[in-house]
Formats: sequence, C-alpha cells, structure tokens
Amino acid sequence: MSSGQERLYAWDDNCLQWYAHAVEYRSFHQEVAEFMRQDLPSRPSVCDVGCGIGALTLQLAPHCRHITAIDLHPKPISYLQEQAAARGLANISAYAGDFLTLPVPDEPYDGVVFCLAGGVEQFLEKGRQWGKTLFFVENATSQRSFSSVGAQTKETYFNHDLQLLTDLGIPHSYRFFTAPFGQVFTDRSDAEAFMHHYNPDEPEASIQAALKAACSLSTIPNSSSSCPMKSPC
Ligand SMILES: C[S@@+](CC[C@H](N)C(=O)[O-])C[C@H]1O[C@@H](n2cnc3c(N)ncnc32)[C@H](O)[C@@H]1O
Repeated sequence: MSSGQERLYAWDDNCLQWYAHAVEYRSFHQEVAEFMRQDLPSRPSVCDVGCGIGALTLQLAPHCRHITAIDLHPKPISYLQEQAAARGLANISAYAGDFLTLPVPDEPYDGVVFCLAGGVEQFLEKGRQWGKTLFFVENATSQRSFSSVGAQTKETYFNHDLQLLTDLGIPHSYRFFTAPFGQVFTDRSDAEAFMHHYNPDEPEASIQAALKAACSLSTIPNSSSSCPMKSPC
C-alpha cells in the first residue's frame, strides 16, 4: 500500500473534510449507486463495507429497506451518522469495525459492496457469507492517485480480481464507467496541505510544480476561490 493510501485510511480532520468536499463535487458515488440498483431487488438490504464517510451509503439509503455501513475507523462513521440524521435517513446503521473479524449475520444482505475499499482476494470469502450479490468497485486505470508528479503507473487489482473470479468458477460480470473524480480546494493553501499530506516524501519543488500545473483558480457556488484539481484516481 502506498503512503498516500495509508494516509487516505488515516481519516484525520483534514482527510475527512477533503473527502467530503470532493464527494460534493463528484457524481461518482451516485453513478455507482445507480449501477448497483440495476442488479438488486427493489428495496434491498445492503451492506457498505469500508464505507468511509458514507458517500455511497447516503446515495443508496433512500432506495434500500435497510443499509449497514461499516468502516475500520470511528471518525468517518460519526460523520456518516450525523449526515444520516441531518437528512432524516433512519434506515442506516453505521458502526466501526473490521469487516474481516465481524460475526456473519443471520440473514445475508441482498447486496454487499466494497467501493474502493479492497479487492476480491481480501474480501470474497467473507463477503460470500454476508451477501447474495457482491459488488467490487475498483479503479481500473493505470494512473496513480494524488500524485504530485502526475500520472504514474500503479498496480491495479482489477485484472487480477477478474482472473481470480474466473479461476474460482464464480459467476460474475463487470462494467467500466468513467466519472469525474476531482478534488475541490477552498484556496491554494488548502491545495498545498493536501499535496503535502498525500505526498509526504516529495520534494517541495515538485509539489509546487504539480500545483502550478494542476490547479486553476475558479469560482464555484458557495466557495469564493476554489481550485478544482483533477486528480487522476
Ligand atoms: C478509499 S476509502 C473508500 C471509502 C468509501 N467506500 C468510498 O467509496 O468513498 C476505503 C475505506 O475502507 C476502509 N476499510 C479497509 N479495510 C476495511 C475492513 N477490513 N473493514 C472495514 N473497513 C475497511 C478504510 O478504513 C477506508 O475508510
């Protein structure tokens, strides 16, 4: 796991705010929810594993009978609970825990989703005990996230996972989609803090060069001077 990814999982106050701002700017989780609904019964029960701040949970909840959201970290779970309450969504149960060590529920969920949370190798065995249909949402590009030096190749789980499912004889299907995956910043110092956070080992000069190349100041509603930075996730 790269240091950037480790930091994404760290969920300190900055990470949480950056992710929340990015989610407002993206249609990514909305699109994932729409795809999932095509493969689920009406009013399904769903479990969102590695839910983070619950961007997908909140999109799915209005269409679900019940949705359980689980993450290793309590901080994004508290954020999700606040968001659910503010939106009057009473059918969300969110709690902190390690999915891999939790007891199997009495009734399997109609769907269990792992959205940018890990791959088939990590979650398949346990996931099959938890859900009737599993959804793995993975990055299938070869570009590295949050890089200060632009697009770089990285290992993707996608081909590996597809092969694994085939080798195991597990019926599966997949679809590719592209969705905006940008990062909104309140100002340049916010963007700088972001780049430093996710690229702790990069020299200052390369951070500054990346910022110069990637950011353009613009104005969006509710934010006076924001910098929408297209992050190649
Ligand atoms: C990149 S974030 C994605 C969050 C969310 N699914 C989304 O799409 O916005 C991955 C999340 O998976 C969580 N995670 C990883 N392994 C986990 C596990 N074994 N049990 C619960 N959560 C896990 C991490 O804590 C992290 O919050």
